Amino acid sequence: MEIFIRRTANEIGDFAANMIEPFVKQGATLGLATGSTPSPTYQALIRKHREEGLSFADCDAFLLDEYYGIDQHHEQSYWSTIRRELTASIDIDDAAVHSLSSSAADPEQEAATYESMMKDAGGVDIQLLGIGANGHIAFNEPTSSLSSRTRLIDLRPRTIADNARFFDSEDEVPRQAMTQGIGTILEAKKILLIATGAAKAEAVQAMIEGPLSSFCPASSLQMHNDVCILLDEAAASGLGDVEFYKEIDAYWR
Ligand code: F6R
Repeated sequence: MEIFIRRTANEIGDFAANMIEPFVKQGATLGLATGSTPSPTYQALIRKHREEGLSFADCDAFLLDEYYGIDQHHEQSYWSTIRRELTASIDIDDAAVHSLSSSAADPEQEAATYESMMKDAGGVDIQLLGIGANGHIAFNEPTSSLSSRTRLIDLRPRTIADNARFFDSEDEVPRQAMTQGIGTILEAKKILLIATGAAKAEAVQAMIEGPLSSFCPASSLQMHNDVCILLDEAAASGLGDVEFYKEIDAYWR
C-alpha cells in the first residue's frame, strides 16, 4: 500500500484527479464511487475537462454499488448521484456509465449480468473507493467474504445511520443494496482509496495496520499489489506509523 497524507480534502481531490488523468487519456474503464468522499476529486476532474480539455469520450465507467428498493431516478440513488456529481458535467457517453439496478426482480441475475459486462469491458483499470466508518468498501459490510462477488446485501445499522444525512430521515434509507463484491473489486488493476475526516480514523487504522479480516472489509486491500491510500490528517490520526508514511511520501515527492 502506498499511503499519502495531505492537509485538506481539496488537496486530496487534486492529487487523485492527477492520478486518474492518464487513465482517462488512455480511454480507460473507470470504477466510480459515490458518497461525499469523491466529490473534491470529481470537481477536480470536471475542472480538467472544462479548463484543460481532458476528454472522457473514450472511457466507460462502472459504479460500485446501488441502493436496492428505491426508484432509479430518486435523487439519492447512485445512478442519479453520479450523474449529478460527475458524468453530466463531462463528455462521457451516458450509455457508457454502468450501474447496478435498484429494482431488479432477480438480483442474482442482475449481479451476474453486471459481472459479465465488467469482464467484457476488460475489467476496471482504476477503481476509486471510499471507506465506511465500519470499514466497508462499496457496500461490503463487515463479515462479507473476502472473495465475495456482486450481490444483494443487507446494510448494517451503522451504515444506515451514517447515510441518513442524505435522506429526509433514517427511515427513508434503503435497508438493502446491490454491491460489487470484495473479490470483484480486487480484480481492478489499480485502486485508489480516499478517506477524509476523523470519523474514518478507526477504520483507516484497521485497514492499513490491522489484520486481514472480514470484520474490516477494507483490510482486503492489503492483498492487492497496486493500492494508493489518500488521507487527510484527521483520517490518518489513528495510524501508529504515521511519521514513517510521511517520510516515505516526502522522499518521493
Ligand atoms: C459508495 C460506496 C461506499 C462509500 C462509503 C463512504 O459508492 O461505495 O462504500 O464510499 O460509505 O461514504 P462517504 O464518502 O459518504 O463517507
